[in-house]
Amino acid sequence: MTMRNGRKQLLIWIIPAALIAVALMVGLFIQARRPTAARRALYIIGEPEKGAALFFGDKQCGICHSINGSGGRVAPDLSGKRPGTPAMGWLVTVLWNHGPGMWRQIRRKNEPYPQLNSQEMADIFAFLYQASSIDRAGNPSAGQRVFNEKGCVRCHSVGGTGGQAAPELSKIAAGPDSNAWTRAMLNHAGSMIAPITSTLGQWPQFTGNEMNDLIAYVRLTAPQPATSAREIPGNAERGWGVFQRRCIQCHSVRGQGGSVGPELGPERDLPLTTGQFASVLWNHAPAMLSQARENGIPPPVLQGNEMADLRTFLASLRYFEPTGSPLVGERVFSERGCAACHGHMAEGTQIGPGLRSGAEAFTTISFTAALWRHGPRMIDRAEQLGIPWPTLKATDIGDLVSFLNAPARPK
Ligand code: HEC
Ligand code: HEC
Ligand code: HEC
Ligand code: HEC
Repeated sequence: MTMRNGRKQLLIWIIPAALIAVALMVGLFIQARRPTAARRALYIIGEPEKGAALFFGDKQCGICHSINGSGGRVAPDLSGKRPGTPAMGWLVTVLWNHGPGMWRQIRRKNEPYPQLNSQEMADIFAFLYQASSIDRAGNPSAGQRVFNEKGCVRCHSVGGTGGQAAPELSKIAAGPDSNAWTRAMLNHAGSMIAPITSTLGQWPQFTGNEMNDLIAYVRLTAPQPATSAREIPGNAERGWGVFQRRCIQCHSVRGQGGSVGPELGPERDLPLTTGQFASVLWNHAPAMLSQARENGIPPPVLQGNEMADLRTFLASLRYFEPTGSPLVGERVFSERGCAACHGHMAEGTQIGPGLRSGAEAFTTISFTAALWRHGPRMIDRAEQLGIPWPTLKATDIGDLVSFLNAPARPK
């Protein structure tokens, strides 16, 4: 069956992805600041591999949803959507905002309502996060067009066809790891800038899927492409080391570091898939390198697995629990309409329960699991009372969770 095949393929990339994600999801303890009994929340580590099994197996999400085309057709495909920032907040809001449509569909189809505990929610999220951030597969013939139109063909050859002034390119991407390509482009940018801008009159810019198509084209003629789309997993901790050696002189993360280039922390909208990250680095290379010259900073040169480690590090910043302010959360809680049923300080009303009396502090995951559990009843109440379904934004989640975890203020 095609769905089975699709699933098998999916598992092939999910396994290396799982290794990355496990590195990403560092278990964290937070201490919710409570004056009396300190409430502790344990951040749960999700495993994408298990998430995939739940998604297509027990929890039956795959009956309605597909991932990269494999699965059901009733509901949106959940892959390839650009995760919002912060990623966790985005996942929660996507689920919440589509709740009414989804729950209605589940009832209509007479499917059992899938029960999810916090661990399962974490696994499914880890899986969806991975699925949302893979590159679309490159198209080699589109890649050949890119190679010609961007003018690479004037100096480079691929599989023997093209200019002879610069190295043949198929060898670079031949390995199993497309990070090698990004690394080669970045490392050689310095010696290419002058000849390229004088030959082509400008520095070619890459957008959309172009880089990925180009990689697919270059690979097509590579001597041993069999292992193609595998990525060598990076390591977030090593990536932080690389960042400190090669990037921090010019870039900061959460305010720590240089200011020659832009801050690269979680607030910066940065593509992290191989192809798109390579495009961003390429597009900015001339400005980065001229700044390096002006400031007497050595240009960034990467070796071995450093590119993969860097990307994993930058992704890990974006996967962390969103942080927020209880004061902003209090306002969001009212403005989005939660207070209409739960009370202004979430103390509870006759319609909806109090939300701050639990023994454990909420994490994003346990918050979502609670929403998932209670969602259908909440929606019924909203319909009975004619209250519109509150719509949430990705940045709300951190604020809401910290509001619900904060000690209740005395009136
Ligand atoms: C019976 C069919 C059905 C099942 C089973 C189902 N969903 Fe859905 N889901 C839907 C529909 C329909 C929508 C779109 C609702 C809308 O747009 O209002 C949706 C929307 C979503 C969205 C938002 C998608 C977007 O494009 O923004 C996510 C995320 C999601 N579902 C996750 C899940 C997960 C995880 C499971 C399994 C635990 C699951 N769904 C099970 C029907 C289903
Ligand atoms: C004007 C000539 C010229 C053009 C046009 C040009 N390059 Fe280059 N490229 C070079 C030269 C010269 C080198 C070798 C630089 C060095 O050895 O440091 C090089 C090196 C490279 C390398 C590293 C090769 C290796 O063996 O490690 C990559 C990757 C690369 N170019 C990609 C591209 C891409 C993609 C384009 C089109 C967007 C392009 N180049 C356009 C001249 C050019
Ligand atoms: C010598 C200073 C310098 C160093 C070292 C440097 N960069 Fe940059 N970087 C810049 C400058 C300046 C820009 C802005 C370029 C522009 O405006 O086009 C930039 C832009 C970027 C961007 C694009 C950001 C965006 O959102 O558009 C990324 C990504 C990036 N750098 C990553 C890195 C990484 C990863 C390293 C380490 C391997 C690094 N840079 C090392 C100076 C540097
Ligand atoms: C129309 C009324 C209504 C609105 C609006 C509403 N809720 Fe609820 N909520 C309920 C009801 C009723 C329950 C209990 C459902 C049950 O018992 O299954 C509930 C349960 C919950 C729970 C689970 C509590 C627990 O102890 O596990 C959370 C968390 C929650 N709501 C958060 C919110 C947030 C955040 C918003 C705003 C974005 C919101 N609710 C908006 C009626 C509402």
